Amino acid sequence: MSSVKAIRSQLLYFVDDPATAGDSAWIYHADGILWIEDGLIRMAGDAAEVLLQLPSGVEIEHFDHHLVIPGFIDTHIHYPQTEMIAAYGERLLEWLETYTFPVESKFGDSEYARQIASFFLDELARNGTTTALVFGSVHPESVDAFFAEAQQRNLRMIAGKVMMDRNAPDYICDEAQQSYEQSKALIERWHGVDRLQYAVTPRFAPTSSDEQLQLAGKLLCEYPGVYMHTHLAENTEECQWVAELFPEARHYLDVYDRAGLMSRRSVFAHGIHLCDDSCKRLSETGASIAHCPSSNLFLGSGLFELDRLTEQGVSVGIGTDVGGGTSFSMLQTLADAYKIQQLRGRKLDPFRALYLATLGGARALDIEDKVGSFQRGREADFVALDLHATELLKFRTGQCKTLFETLFVLNTLGDDRVVDTTWVMGEAIHKRRAV
Ligand code: GUN
Ligand code: ZN
Repeated sequence: MSSVKAIRSQLLYFVDDPATAGDSAWIYHADGILWIEDGLIRMAGDAAEVLLQLPSGVEIEHFDHHLVIPGFIDTHIHYPQTEMIAAYGERLLEWLETYTFPVESKFGDSEYARQIASFFLDELARNGTTTALVFGSVHPESVDAFFAEAQQRNLRMIAGKVMMDRNAPDYICDEAQQSYEQSKALIERWHGVDRLQYAVTPRFAPTSSDEQLQLAGKLLCEYPGVYMHTHLAENTEECQWVAELFPEARHYLDVYDRAGLMSRRSVFAHGIHLCDDSCKRLSETGASIAHCPSSNLFLGSGLFELDRLTEQGVSVGIGTDVGGGTSFSMLQTLADAYKIQQLRGRKLDPFRALYLATLGGARALDIEDKVGSFQRGREADFVALDLHATELLKFRTGQCKTLFETLFVLNTLGDDRVVDTTWVMGEAIHKRRAV
């Protein structure tokens, strides 16, 4: 017996990047039906058309004044930093020393890690995020706890244990060989289990010895299909430090490149301060940048050159970077992305913004064939966003004359309050309204 569901609402999804494909990048149904069968998308279309094919007797769930889109994809976030989000007064390097390392040291305790992982995943669901690329802590226990919680919720998640063997307090460091073995054991245990995938996760160049980076590269050779996840060129002091620590490297990205850490499945958070050669290497290897606007503003890191990287063919996704970022909401994060481009005298239109937070994220994570759109056969991870969630949003969207305007207002004013329902593989895992 197959399980069939149908949702009637406004539907919007992307099939390409509006930056290159223009208006043919997105598909919108003002009165649409999303037909789900056995957890997968069977059809998304105009209601009149879908009704001709939908089996009779299927109950249709109606969402008036809502917009149904694929679940958000957060391409960079730290689950152990949930409890230190909004920590006052520091830029990156001091922020790490003062707040981050002490908090992350608690995640060797499996029970504690599980509690925080559970809270974190609930928070993602409340914000309509159905897939994320996630940093654990240095402790393998943190990743076991995270994957166990994600598995229970049937989520598509990618995560890894942090590798860091120098330039941080001893209590939060591993050793090169140990980090290799621990990562290997985690890959064996979790990569490809249900919807879970593993990311080899050196924290960033300053906290890894050359030996550790080489061993990270070795893991990627031994396990094709495993991801690589790290930070890159976020802050000018950090970039200066990397130049001093790795005098033989041509630039920051070259440190990772020399260790064999660049591929289609490599994701580098930030990438604010990049030379043309770095952009070229990112583009030719198919590696991606996770742009984290909220974090970049909060930590005073700099203004991301979205147009420049896009023109140079670099794949970009959006990350909240909690706890450097100050919101789990991808909508709030898109609002910050817009403001960053305003400060640079550029524009980020709402179609491109929503693309980056859905299909663009899926492309950055190389899971475009699984999630990120409503094309037939995709996994049915999606959200219903309530355009009447607040009095202000109801009033303001009531004034909108075009879809462009409505989406921009939603991107700008929306947050967790607009996320009415979040579905994973066709099952509702979060409902805002009491039922
Ligand atoms: N660079 C190295 N570690 C971190 C981290 O935890 N957060 C951010 N934003 N940047 C980093
Ligand atoms: Zn980060």
